[in-house]
Amino acid sequence: MFDLSARVALVTGAGQGVGAEIAAVLAGAGCAVAVNDLQPERAAATADQLTSAGATAVPLPFDVADPAAVSTAVETAAAALGPVDVLVNNAGIPPGAQWLVPFRDTDPADWDAWLRVNLYGVLNCTHATIGGMCDRGWGRVVTIVSDAARSGEALMAVYSAAKAGAAGFMRSIAKEVGRTGVTANCVALGNMGPPTGTPETAEVRAQFEALARRYPVGRVGRATDVAPAVLYLCSPEAEWVTGQTLAVNGGYITS
Ligand SMILES: NC(=O)c1ccc[n+]([C@@H]2O[C@H](COP(=O)([O-])OP(=O)(O)OC[C@H]3O[C@@H](n4cnc5c(N)ncnc54)[C@H](O)[C@@H]3O)[C@@H](O)[C@H]2O)c1
Repeated sequence: MFDLSARVALVTGAGQGVGAEIAAVLAGAGCAVAVNDLQPERAAATADQLTSAGATAVPLPFDVADPAAVSTAVETAAAALGPVDVLVNNAGIPPGAQWLVPFRDTDPADWDAWLRVNLYGVLNCTHATIGGMCDRGWGRVVTIVSDAARSGEALMAVYSAAKAGAAGFMRSIAKEVGRTGVTANCVALGNMGPPTGTPETAEVRAQFEALARRYPVGRVGRATDVAPAVLYLCSPEAEWVTGQTLAVNGGYITS
């Protein structure tokens, strides 16, 4: 339904999970995709899958938290595919069970890791691409945030702060570039299923069944729930939608 032929997308953290599905859906809509991940083998695996399916894709491993690496990578993507028209800031460190810590017990030395990827990564990638989008008169930026950015979430205060910062940043960018044909939005996720590679133990099953009971639709999220929402926000048809946060969250938070 949505045609993004001749557009070039950069999807960060696309080596697995939500990002890999977003890359596949954008490629299916006609985008050439630069597949970023911190882990080179993951970026290569996703890019291989896309090219095997007939799409145009290149692996682009870099750390979104490193501004120099981001800037070089965006130039590499432009040389290989053309300038980036669509940026999906998906790379993030979702809080695994080991990270659920009362704020008073966190170590300030650890905050930086969360902020560097979940907030500065979004700033770095947007900074490296937004000027070109504005100059060419068309662009889409979508950042993947979390319900925690909107409602707050106990034991995830630093993650929530980083994601809320990213959402505020997107709203500001939307206002700044609104007249140039460039939109900036967020998609806020609820709890997704177990991360790729998680062993299917009884304990993990019980943990996710308990999480699922908190959701009005009775299950946790899947990458396939998220990617079509991102595709819509990246589409030409969404040109009047900007500065928004679209919740894809099984109804967990309703406003
Ligand atoms: N999983 C959840 O329950 C959940 C809930 C709400 C929001 N989110 C958000 O959704 C997004 C995707 O989450 P996911 O569950 O697919 O995560 P995931 O951990 O399965 O995949 C994230 C990918 O990002 C890559 N990555 C991490 N740091 C990076 C960096 N500095 N530079 C480049 N790549 C990097 C990882 O190598 C990994 O392949 C994240 O922004 C996350 O915060 C996830």
